[in-house]
Amino acid sequence: MREAILSGTLGPEHSLPASRRLAAELGVSRGVVVRAYEQLAGEGYLESRGSGGTRVAVRADGPGIALEGIQEAAGAEQTVTIDLTPGRPAGTPFGDRDWRAAWRKAVAEPVEVGLPDVLGTPVLRSALAGHLAASRGLTVSAEDVIITAGTSDALQLIVAALRGQAEPPRVLMEDPGYPTARRVLSAAGAAVQTLPVADDGLEAAQLAALGPRPDAVLVTPSHQYPLGGRMPVKERLALLAWAEANRALILEDDYDSEFRHRRMPLPALASLPSAAEVVLVGTFSKSLSPWLRCGYLVVRGATGQRLKDARHDLGTPVPGVMQSALANYIAGGGLARHIARARREYAHRRALLLDRLGKRADVELAALDGGLHAVIRLQPNVPAERLAEEALRLGVRVVTLASYFAERTPENGLVIGYGAPTDLQLARALDIIAGVLDRMASDCG
Ligand SMILES: Cc1ncc(COP(=O)(O)O)c(C=O)c1O
Repeated sequence: MREAILSGTLGPEHSLPASRRLAAELGVSRGVVVRAYEQLAGEGYLESRGSGGTRVAVRADGPGIALEGIQEAAGAEQTVTIDLTPGRPAGTPFGDRDWRAAWRKAVAEPVEVGLPDVLGTPVLRSALAGHLAASRGLTVSAEDVIITAGTSDALQLIVAALRGQAEPPRVLMEDPGYPTARRVLSAAGAAVQTLPVADDGLEAAQLAALGPRPDAVLVTPSHQYPLGGRMPVKERLALLAWAEANRALILEDDYDSEFRHRRMPLPALASLPSAAEVVLVGTFSKSLSPWLRCGYLVVRGATGQRLKDARHDLGTPVPGVMQSALANYIAGGGLARHIARARREYAHRRALLLDRLGKRADVELAALDGGLHAVIRLQPNVPAERLAEEALRLGVRVVTLASYFAERTPENGLVIGYGAPTDLQLARALDIIAGVLDRMASDCG
């Protein structure tokens, strides 16, 4: 089918056979055809139009197809920017049949006249508890879940709860780390400290050397953000032991643990046996879409109660109808299917990254074991800032690794989000980046 599209035999005017019919013609199971259509849609060749069938999305002579490298891209008028900013997941679920069915059911429910439950609707809390048990191996009951409007909202709630204990609450973060979290925590009134970390994240031995004890430590153990390593189990246990001894709260940002490409996920800190208090901060921003502004906390113990009290004081910012729709989507298996689809797309794009840049001696690829971004470390003679400017001039937006560093000297590199672009766009963008790298290296002599 790819060949037929590239040669122009199949064009946007052709609608494709229904998966059931094609499967019967080819003598394969329907699942094979569905997966092939999905993959081609992920690569940008096809477009699914729900009940309107599947159609070819590009024309052989169209702008998306010419991938012959930098000369061509440099010469062409750049009207469209391929955005590789991290944090943008693959095609939203909004066109997906399960999603639409979940919403239809939600709006058909008897109209509620009151406010939604402040901690989240019981059906969503219970659906999420089931989802976390299946996807993350967490033994959670619905009472342990608080629905949030995403990670930023969760962090504000946590600071509000900590303010009853300490003023200002001191929160320790990894450096490099998630810049939005630094900004939100400070804006909410926390005093943010940072600790330099390597690819696998924070090491408990570093904490022993700290001056004043932080009230909370925010970590990304399943996929250090943005460097991409994972905290070894030994370090996880040591961190919990330190937290218990120092009565500090652990905030586990579990933002993209659904997407492991190579190695199995390690157990969440929140699931390990310990008397330390751990709050798991989850989000639908990566597994579904940041457009939803929805996430959750898994809470226990005295801190859990304080967080619930704070939510009661502040009220919920999460619309009830969306919670109903999400609960229907999870209960109907739509979320699990969407994640499985997205995981296949990301694995494919990761392979594309390795194919285009993996063999170059002048870059080092990192953070590829999971998630939907990668880190490209650069040689000192290729400043990331200049590479990013040049790439943008040629129509590719990338973010420098430096923007994630808080207090230490930043590393020279880029962070590439590969969730949102199609395979065709990503291939084109990587060719452009490779071309800029070649040119910058030859300019340096
Ligand atoms: C480390 C990290 N945590 C959490 C999130 C999600 O934030 P939110 O749920 O506020 O969209 C992101 C999004 O980019 C992230 O990079």
